[in-house]
Amino acid sequence: MGDSNGSGMDRRALLGGAALGAGLIAGGVAAAPQAAEAQVLFPKAGGGFGGPFGGGGSVAGAVCRSENDLYDCEVEGKLPADLDGVFYRVGPDPQYPKPPQWTMDIPFDGEGHISMFRIKDGHVDFRSRYARNQRWKAQHAARRSLFGMYRNPATDDPSVKGLSRGTANTQIVYHHNRLFAMKEDSPPVAMDPLTLETTDDYYTFGGGMKSLTFTAHPKIDPHTGEMIAFGYEAKGFYTPDIEVFSCDKTGKVNWSAWVKSPYTCMIHDFGVTQKHIAFLATPLAANQELLAKGGPHWAWDSSLPSYLGVMRRGGDGSDIQWIKGPGWMATHTMGAWSEGDKLYFDVDGAPGNQFPFFPSVHEPFDPKASVGRVVRLTADMSTKNPDGYGRETLFPQITGALSRQDDRYHTVPYRWGILNGGGWNLLDHQTGKAQTFTLPGAMLAEATFVPRHRNAPEGDGYLIGVASHMKENGRSDLLIVDTQDIAAGPIATVHMPYRVVGQIHGLWVPGDQLPKHA
Ligand SMILES: [Fe+2]
Repeated sequence: MGDSNGSGMDRRALLGGAALGAGLIAGGVAAAPQAAEAQVLFPKAGGGFGGPFGGGGSVAGAVCRSENDLYDCEVEGKLPADLDGVFYRVGPDPQYPKPPQWTMDIPFDGEGHISMFRIKDGHVDFRSRYARNQRWKAQHAARRSLFGMYRNPATDDPSVKGLSRGTANTQIVYHHNRLFAMKEDSPPVAMDPLTLETTDDYYTFGGGMKSLTFTAHPKIDPHTGEMIAFGYEAKGFYTPDIEVFSCDKTGKVNWSAWVKSPYTCMIHDFGVTQKHIAFLATPLAANQELLAKGGPHWAWDSSLPSYLGVMRRGGDGSDIQWIKGPGWMATHTMGAWSEGDKLYFDVDGAPGNQFPFFPSVHEPFDPKASVGRVVRLTADMSTKNPDGYGRETLFPQITGALSRQDDRYHTVPYRWGILNGGGWNLLDHQTGKAQTFTLPGAMLAEATFVPRHRNAPEGDGYLIGVASHMKENGRSDLLIVDTQDIAAGPIATVHMPYRVVGQIHGLWVPGDQLPKHA
């Protein structure tokens, strides 16, 4: 989940959504679902679902919806001849307009539309496809929206009871020759990494995963090739249960443990090291009163504390310590590692609610408190029942969200981080220096790191991501900048003739890791 998607992010729309949410908290009554209009027509006014932000990262109130193929895209500049791989992206792209009573739905509720730029031999081919998950198929057959408010099943059309509500719109991961599109309220959707054909609309690792949910941000251990993941609300709606598990290179689940969160809240990402697993529980909490009124799943409850939960990786979970701290919020992991019993866990944190469309229980949304910075959390696990956890802001001059790293350094000490906000910020933890790339007149989606080649040192390579040009109705370019000098601008620009589907997160997969029939 994130907030930078190459869209014309409209503050009024976001605040309008917050006001609607606040109304629900204050006692607004939602109408029962009704049949959609026979004709398909998205709302033209901003602020509603399908509006500037809700339009799946699109602009001017438009959604995308068009599944496209473009062979041999235009390329300006010098695309490295040896650059070989796929840049995948995913974001919410509403399949159908919501019925009128759910047009205030939040931007994260659109159906997952995955796109890929296949780069090889100096050429770029583009393809985009929706995840054909259970939700997409039901709505496609009905030719209308059947799912109401974000993660609120009581608002659904009765015909979809029992189907997975997952949108598969948040992030993708590639593991055991499968591409997975993920939404944290449901199991992943498996897709063919070369064609984007959906191959499994409810993937459970051969039954090895017992959780009913799966994070959008699993981690890959660079030493073992294992994928480590978790699901929260793992035993169903409202439940505090978390399953954390790993699978080997073949997808076989080889470790699983169950723990309980101190309260049921959004746990969007987590920290994985060679030794520890870390969860951060923050006050964006499940709010049953809000849900009963037809609202979204979460509300910001500033009266709640935070907890940093740390457990031994590979254990049974009984050793987890939930270390209490002040109420604040973080959404994404930049990196995490352990030194002995000490955990280091870097996140994109902010003092308050980072998502204005999730209503606040006690006070109005505070834009200043939503601004994210890199925050380093520390905990010494040799101490039983520690008083608190360490929390230090790094690079205080750099603000943003959607923290990333060179993905080859999951679970181990790392040097280079990326923070997205107003531009692409490349942060050097060794020197404390930051480089920033900006493109005036364009919105930049999240940057993803691409190694220069298989054995390139950490951080040596490219940042890749999509720019949407505001004066061209959001027309898209794919930008590739060299991490040796990102301020110099793109070394290559892939000019798309249209606005590509929006994005929350992206993923680079090197060509030599793709299935052999590539
Ligand atoms: Fe995310």
